[in-house]
Amino acid sequence: MPDLRQGCTTGKPGEETAPADALVLFGAMGDLAHKKIFPALYHMVRHGHLEVPVIGVARAARTDEHLKERVRDSVQRQGDDIDQEALAKLLKLLRYVGGDYQDPATFDLLKKALGSATRPAHYLAIPPSLFASVVESLAKSNSMTNARVIVEKPFGKDLASAQRLNAALHAVVPESRIFRIDHYLGKEAVLNLLFFRFANSFLEPIWNRNYIESVQITMAEKFGIEGRGKFYDDTGAIRDVVENHMLQVVAFLAMEAPTGLHCEAIRDEQVKIFRAIPPLDPKHLVRGQFKSYKNEKGVAPDSKVETFAAVRLEVQSWRWSGVPFLIRAGKCLPVTTTEVLVKLRKPPLDNLAGESTNHFRFRLGPGEISLSLSARVKRVGEELVSMPAQLSAVEEHTADEVDAYERLLGDAMHGDATLFVREDAVEAAWAIVEPILANVTTLHPYEPGSWGPGAADRLAIDVGGWHNPEEH
Ligand code: BG6
Repeated sequence: MPDLRQGCTTGKPGEETAPADALVLFGAMGDLAHKKIFPALYHMVRHGHLEVPVIGVARAARTDEHLKERVRDSVQRQGDDIDQEALAKLLKLLRYVGGDYQDPATFDLLKKALGSATRPAHYLAIPPSLFASVVESLAKSNSMTNARVIVEKPFGKDLASAQRLNAALHAVVPESRIFRIDHYLGKEAVLNLLFFRFANSFLEPIWNRNYIESVQITMAEKFGIEGRGKFYDDTGAIRDVVENHMLQVVAFLAMEAPTGLHCEAIRDEQVKIFRAIPPLDPKHLVRGQFKSYKNEKGVAPDSKVETFAAVRLEVQSWRWSGVPFLIRAGKCLPVTTTEVLVKLRKPPLDNLAGESTNHFRFRLGPGEISLSLSARVKRVGEELVSMPAQLSAVEEHTADEVDAYERLLGDAMHGDATLFVREDAVEAAWAIVEPILANVTTLHPYEPGSWGPGAADRLAIDVGGWHNPEEH
């Protein structure tokens, strides 16, 4: 069966489309590298997908040995059944370059470390305020020719900064070689939304305003900000997960079928959805902050930053006009899970349908990944009454599973940008949240372990309230 992305390297005729021959990781000593990127590299080696040198760059004056130690530690936290051979192979690929990102000498050292590599992929796992100067220095030191640039989220702080960042990147590298990461786009369960919608024909006739009453997405996290106080206090829930992860899930749920095998087909449909969502009205936003947030290290004592956000939006299209889309995301909630609930309209015969309606529920993880349809059937017995029944498909975790970062890094190194955020999409997404940035509404305190501020209930009153997912 052809892969959805078959042949989707972004290279145009004449442009270099061969796989990257080195991976440069800026921010190699950071949190993200330790938590997500090193495990992904290990799995890439394990699956035979990474054989090129990996050069870790960071400010600290460290050695190859330090980097190897950090990678070893990160991989070993994955569990007991580590493939030691794969780990040893990964360690062999590693080199370290340390130095200030403002100092040209750092980039000269990097150029030297790249040796004969001619098509490096530079992964910027560093704060966005450094992106522009780093790519400029890479260009000046001749490390940008034929190179790809992978950039982490958040891509800017608002629309204007995202536009500036795009302009700064485009000054040295064409869009076809820029890979903006949103790791939700690499998640098995999120991609499954596309497959469930477009690999079946039974859904299409009902997947619209005539049958769907509302859509709600809850991204609940039991944990707090886990030592990321400084980052989080500059960011907040809207910038951290709503503008990117949550809107991408909305796009997959709402978009039209990508037509043909054209490489930009999926991204074209994504951006159409973002453009069909009007900028959010602060009236349709409820922000919360968990009590004790201000005691976290790195957080301002008078912080007005939200750790919980609930919004209600519309997709103004023929398919979705009038259907509310609700998003709720927060830290220190009762469970860690992301769930989508698509409610169908009530059938007209009350005495058969009872109170509840049909709905589709997608659990996007972590833990159980599942899809279920709640239908009504006859309750066994003498009475002629209905009761709810669940038709569920639960995805088993298997050895073939590919982690989001592993998938995305592999794709970027092969020049396949299908699952990356395009310039127009990132700007359109910022345009949606622009009116609700800058702490524009009241901040409601909430108890850690609760479902956030009660004030959020008003957004969901007419759709039967928020559905609180359970932990699995
Ligand atoms: C990151 C956010 O992008 O996504 C974090 O910065 C959040 O705050 C994380 O916890 C959630 O990702 P996942 O894959 O654990 O759902």
